[in-house]
Amino acid sequence: MAAGKPTGTQKTVPLPPIHVDGQEKIIIDTTALSDVSLGKLGKSSTDTRRRINHFHTLIKEYSKLASKKQTRGNDLSAEDMVSIGERIEDVSREMAQMGGLDWYQKASLLGQCKQRGGDTSRWLVPKMRDLGVDKRPGKTRLLDVGALSCLNYAKERKWIDVTPIDLNSQEPGIYKQDFLDIELDSNAPVPLLSQHDDADSGEESDVETNTAHLFQSPFDVICLSLVVNFIGDPARRGDMLKQAARLLAPEGLLFLVLPLSCVANSRYLDDERLLEIMQFLGFTQLHQNHTAKLAHYLYRLTASIPATASASGDEPQFKKKMLHSAPGRNNFSIVV
Ligand SMILES: C[S@@+](CC[C@H](N)C(=O)[O-])C[C@H]1O[C@@H](n2cnc3c(N)ncnc32)[C@H](O)[C@@H]1O
Repeated sequence: MAAGKPTGTQKTVPLPPIHVDGQEKIIIDTTALSDVSLGKLGKSSTDTRRRINHFHTLIKEYSKLASKKQTRGNDLSAEDMVSIGERIEDVSREMAQMGGLDWYQKASLLGQCKQRGGDTSRWLVPKMRDLGVDKRPGKTRLLDVGALSCLNYAKERKWIDVTPIDLNSQEPGIYKQDFLDIELDSNAPVPLLSQHDDADSGEESDVETNTAHLFQSPFDVICLSLVVNFIGDPARRGDMLKQAARLLAPEGLLFLVLPLSCVANSRYLDDERLLEIMQFLGFTQLHQNHTAKLAHYLYRLTASIPATASASGDEPQFKKKMLHSAPGRNNFSIVV
């Protein structure tokens, strides 16, 4: 996906591309449903949370079906293919009827404000200060992936230069950019996507005329707050962590936030396994914190990403491995 300049809120948007089987991206085409109005954010915070969870389930089901269609297409009967295709359409339709990604993001934003007592940057900023990041010369370049608000680091603008991106920008100041499409190129003509003022002033910027997913230099900090769990495919979740390692400067910081259930109640992932994966990718864990709903992690990139870190589609080093077989657990996993 090419990056675009920051956009304002749109009424109806396509759902995000769903990454399937490590390679392909499938874009759910909801254009035929473009007159479906936004779903309600929710009657209450409990209702909103229930609907967000249901939306997650739909994303996962879509991802599984699309993967099956793609990888096992040749083995499946024509009848099975038709029924998978029909189910994909039903799932897409239901997501669109809920308001699609736009609704989901607004609901998550509501959750960010009301349920969790503030956005997760509130946890990160004091940790960065403890590490003396605010005292370093020059501004700290922070890439906020899956940003629902461009104001998350507004109070720290003296020392943090934030680049907020999202697949679907919710407000002016957030760039429409797929994290997985970002590349570093020191020869890139301009540090693209850094022109927040253009968006604020309403002036046209030239962002769209450039190769917009290139950045000249690596980032000092990357935030993946509630983003990795957003992806349905475990190998793509792993790709996000690898991408963070590629885009960070040496000694750069990665802030990872997952719903607590991903590490506390999964058959395939726990803190220990996550630590092994992160260490393999070159990270040293600095902090870990569990709240009632969230798991926060802060890592420092202390080694280069190993050449053995498989490219998408290769045999993974960390496969989906049963760690806790007790009933009632979920299937969240990260494959690297
Ligand atoms: C639950 S929201 C995260 C909100 C916020 N970061 C927080 O901590 O509350 C997940 C967001 O991640 C975005 N996202 C998912 N995959 C992405 C990708 N590959 N590139 C950019 N944004 C992505 C989605 O569009 C969605 O808005």
